[in-house]
Amino acid sequence: MGAETGTLTLQLRDELLRSDRPQIERIVRSCGYFREDEIAVALELTDDRLTKGAMSDYRFVIAAHGDQVVGYCCYGRIPCTVHSYDIYWIVVDPEAQRSGIGRKLLAAAEDRIRAAGGARVYVETSNRPQYESTRKFYLRVGYSVECVLREFYAPNDDKVVFL
Ligand SMILES: CC(C)(COP(=O)(O)OP(=O)(O)OC[C@H]1O[C@@H](n2cnc3c(N)ncnc32)[C@H](O)[C@@H]1OP(=O)(O)O)[C@@H](O)C(=O)NCCC(=O)NCCS
Repeated sequence: MGAETGTLTLQLRDELLRSDRPQIERIVRSCGYFREDEIAVALELTDDRLTKGAMSDYRFVIAAHGDQVVGYCCYGRIPCTVHSYDIYWIVVDPEAQRSGIGRKLLAAAEDRIRAAGGARVYVETSNRPQYESTRKFYLRVGYSVECVLREFYAPNDDKVVFL
């Protein structure tokens, strides 16, 4: 699938390539949002998919411009549920943000979830000011706040669950 996004010719693909891993690490680091332990988790999910292939619980949609990864979304069915899915990670290269790539990645993941029989899609983030743009993004693309878990992450750091 190809789509023009500004000066980028965007390709969305489901296959995760070995060569995507260093690019995923670069994007996750360069957006400046994630701590080292969070970056390690993002790469763990990537490695799980690369190692187990279709047997992995983690699925990916990659947004690429040629051989350059400009964003990705990692999602999967939540264990012990019938039709509930989690968006585990969605990141767009800071240099390519605000050009509709995040919206396209999420829509692509939702299409695949629907095709697989999924009915509910959850995504969570922190209520810290740093994540205000992330919360605006989810609200803008059609999610609403399902619940707030007070001080879930740390004192004064709630978890906001969107549906
Ligand atoms: C959240 C993120 C994935 C959005 O990707 P993106 O490609 O920049 O988003 P889009 O261009 O598709 O934006 C879609 C809508 O979200 C809103 N939005 C996106 N970024 C925003 C920002 N920084 N501030 C306010 N609203 C924003 C806009 O209203 C936009 O709609 P519009 O273009 O019609 O105005 C991206 O900003 C990102 O990687 N952030 C850092 C990592 C992160 O927080 N990931 C989520 C937790 S894992």
